[in-house]
Amino acid sequence: MVEAMASDRPTDARPWWQGAVIYQIYPRSFADANGDGIGDLRGIIDRLDHLRGTDASLGVDAIWLSPIFPSPLHDFGYDISDYTDVAPEFGSLADLDALITACHDRGLRLLLDLVPNHTSIEHAWFVESRSSRSNPRRDWYSWADPAPDGGPPNNWRCAFGPPAWTFDETTGQYYLHSFYPEQPDLNYRNPAVADAMHEVMRFWFRRGIDGFRVDAVAHVLKDPLLRDNPPYRRETWMPGFGMRMNQDPLWNMDRPEVHEVVRGLRRVADEFEGRVLIGEIYTPVERLAGYLGEDRADEFQLAFDFELLNTPWDWRLFMLAIERAEALHPPGAWPTYALSNHDNPRTATRYGRERARVAAFLLLMLRGVPVLYQGEEIGMVDAAPSAAGDRAGRDAQRTPMQWDGSSSGGFTAGRPWLPLVDQERVNVAAQAGDSGSLLSLYRRLLQVRAVTPALRCGTHRSVFELAEGVLGWIREAEGDRVLVLCNLTDEPRALDPAPLRRFGTPDRGEVLVATSDRAGHAELRTLVLERLEGVALSA
Ligand code: NOJ
Repeated sequence: MVEAMASDRPTDARPWWQGAVIYQIYPRSFADANGDGIGDLRGIIDRLDHLRGTDASLGVDAIWLSPIFPSPLHDFGYDISDYTDVAPEFGSLADLDALITACHDRGLRLLLDLVPNHTSIEHAWFVESRSSRSNPRRDWYSWADPAPDGGPPNNWRCAFGPPAWTFDETTGQYYLHSFYPEQPDLNYRNPAVADAMHEVMRFWFRRGIDGFRVDAVAHVLKDPLLRDNPPYRRETWMPGFGMRMNQDPLWNMDRPEVHEVVRGLRRVADEFEGRVLIGEIYTPVERLAGYLGEDRADEFQLAFDFELLNTPWDWRLFMLAIERAEALHPPGAWPTYALSNHDNPRTATRYGRERARVAAFLLLMLRGVPVLYQGEEIGMVDAAPSAAGDRAGRDAQRTPMQWDGSSSGGFTAGRPWLPLVDQERVNVAAQAGDSGSLLSLYRRLLQVRAVTPALRCGTHRSVFELAEGVLGWIREAEGDRVLVLCNLTDEPRALDPAPLRRFGTPDRGEVLVATSDRAGHAELRTLVLERLEGVALSA
């Protein structure tokens, strides 16, 4: 067993995760060491140089592994049948211990995925629960009688659209599932359930992991009266979820009692030193803020703000997402942003390859914690749905990491479980030595961020009206000031010097990093940004 890392910077009171860059690994698709076509823990260990520890590494601070636990794979690992083991296709507990050590040896933190809301239908707890109405584990899950017409107890829908209730013949009742029917929801009104999940957390914390990304936590408690949800209202709910459910999940998501469950998780994390919990709370940012910050120091340290991820390519909408995040995150809270993940189309697919550069720049220059999805750093794109098999509808963005241009992309010596996409052109080896590649840009952005306090942990102030389609902001820390400029349009843009003057920026600034090959000093008053150019200058 390994203890989690002590702070890198003992004199710095800031927790390690503030301003950290986190890299999401989808373990099935990162690197396969045993040749079965499925990624595994040994494969991750073999590829850690890509992430941190050498001059050529990306230089991320932490990795988050999507679930690695035994699962019948109805939701690719988010349906867990044993919370305290490693799925055989990924390796063993000993491999996990080796990964923890290998990460810590190079100053990399390791986070796992905690899935507290639901188990697999095959988990021993559910097998017992469904066996009879009098089983001691019956109320570990949410069971309810049919409606008078024999239909589901109410109108709740699961996150993927269909009804959230499935009838179970054995006992003549319905069970609740916020996701697939193979993922029954646990019942947190029973304190034994929270106790069991806390033990799961301790099991992994004791092995030395540095934290958890906490899955689907907005769902953990629902209205005990099972009241029907009202119709979908665009203004009150996040587009993705509300629309798929075609209702406003007023009574089964983000209930006030969820906060008590979160406080319970946090108490366990705080039994150990330096551990972080990142909430995946699908809720608008104004409600997300209720879980974060100085006044909620006993809830999440971080929580995903998915607005940026859901923003179409429109500079005004980007500006709004950033402004809302800055205005609505309470004091002490750090926005956690991603542009993509295993549930969403990739950045280069949504925005196109060219725009992916300035999108990466924007993400890494913002105040907050950026979470990079594996493959984004080389501009991987989604597979066409038919090529990907598309079992769960999300395979397209889960295709294997492309390490080189060979037929299996350097991912496996066997046959990859999902097809590769254009790996001859889009791969790590090809981009590593090319200073103009997206990978090289990511490395530069991470390097500059790591050594520039203003970018890593500084404040944010937006600068408006620089030019149509140009976003600008100033990051500031420890007397260090950086002006960030992003031209999100397809045309060059001359800046209006007036707003810069109001912020008292100097006439000239040194270019710290840019999406282009701009370097040296720039005259700020007469600066013309190239199309889709991002520039960060000392100012
Ligand atoms: C969010 C996960 O990211 C997604 O992949 C999964 O299907 C649901 N939660 C349910 O666990």
